[in-house]
Amino acid sequence: MALSAGDFVRELKGNKVLLVTDAFLERSGMLDGIIASLTEASAAPPVLFSDVPADSDIDCVNAGAELARLHDCDAIVCVGGGSVIDTAKVINLCLTYGGDLMEYQGLNLIDRSLFPLVAIPTTAGTGSEVTFVAMVKDHAQKRKLMFGSPYLAPDMAILDPELLLSLPPHLTAATGMDAITHGIESFVATNTNSSFTNALCLESLSLLFKWLPVAYRDGRDIEARSATLIASCMAGVAFNNSGVGVVHGLAHSVGAMFGTHHGMTNAIFLPHGMRFNMDIAAERFAAITAFIEPDFAGTTEDKCQRLISRVESLMHEMQMPANLAAIKIPKLNGELAQELALMAAADPAIIFNPKEVSLEELRDLLDKAY
Ligand SMILES: NC(=O)c1ccc[n+]([C@@H]2O[C@H](COP(=O)([O-])OP(=O)(O)OC[C@H]3O[C@@H](n4cnc5c(N)ncnc54)[C@H](O)[C@@H]3O)[C@@H](O)[C@H]2O)c1
Ligand SMILES: [Fe+2]
Repeated sequence: MALSAGDFVRELKGNKVLLVTDAFLERSGMLDGIIASLTEASAAPPVLFSDVPADSDIDCVNAGAELARLHDCDAIVCVGGGSVIDTAKVINLCLTYGGDLMEYQGLNLIDRSLFPLVAIPTTAGTGSEVTFVAMVKDHAQKRKLMFGSPYLAPDMAILDPELLLSLPPHLTAATGMDAITHGIESFVATNTNSSFTNALCLESLSLLFKWLPVAYRDGRDIEARSATLIASCMAGVAFNNSGVGVVHGLAHSVGAMFGTHHGMTNAIFLPHGMRFNMDIAAERFAAITAFIEPDFAGTTEDKCQRLISRVESLMHEMQMPANLAAIKIPKLNGELAQELALMAAADPAIIFNPKEVSLEELRDLLDKAY
């Protein structure tokens, strides 16, 4: 028998649930079954907070926490993409700790358990349902704030591919490329040395290269939705243990400055980040090609180039923008390029890149991706 959101909340001993989602999902009717199961489990309907925008921010987090406090909520269920799940994680932090959110920004600044949190993703990309990080925007500063602690990770995640059937092709592509970036960056990250993360990265990439174009072409294909959802979750567990790298560092800074979608921005930087890391990560990139395309013959370098060209052709097939100019970002030169490079250099994601990246190299990557 399949367990429902309500069963999980009961198991976690939640009485009053805050249901975090976004306006589209609320209108879609897709939440009806979840609301019914939560109502049955706690003998009262959940308190609905559906104001999460795509590029969620600290004001939204504070509003959600205030609503939860007003209704004495003691459990959170979130249904949505990475923006919704990350917002719910930080609402949970706010609810438990109160005070100024900024005090907990950074890594491992939380020292006790939060309220029970159940995450139900509706995109196959971020893996946020299994990670202990949350990214929310500080619009005033044009920065993405990172909160990271094992206590932030959801207690339970439910993967239901039916919830992804409505995802339009361009978002299927962009979110799927986020998962591919997680798999590739985490496989070469400095923290990656375990069979555990190796297995997760390789299998998730194999699933994504096979099924993402199918899900893009036919969003109603439940097998493709299921495979990409499982793969993005696996890649989430992998990068949660291994870290990501320069591609995420740059995507976070450009995303914070210009509000571009996280997965799409990663996709644009991915081939450039791979070429940049190739001298140190050649064997690892070649190992990915050997796994996902065992019949491909050639040298280590051939296999590296093959992986990069697989990424580029997949983006092309899914009609994704190939560079930053195509998404109408102003020319990145002078002070603007320097500011973005500084933001990327200070981003926690870049710590795990397999080699050091200087400011000059970051500016060069911004230039190449333009
Ligand atoms: N915490 C982590 O581990 C982690 C990892 C990667 C990215 N992120 C963060 O996640 C966010 C991006 O999340 P995302 O890529 O899932 O996109 P998103 O959550 O921002 O959603 C993008 C759009 O898709 C719509 N949408 C979501 N599900 C849908 C569905 N089933 N049908 C139709 N429309 C749907 C949303 O309404 C929204 O308009 C960024 O803020 C990024 O920084 C977090
Ligand atoms: Fe990501």
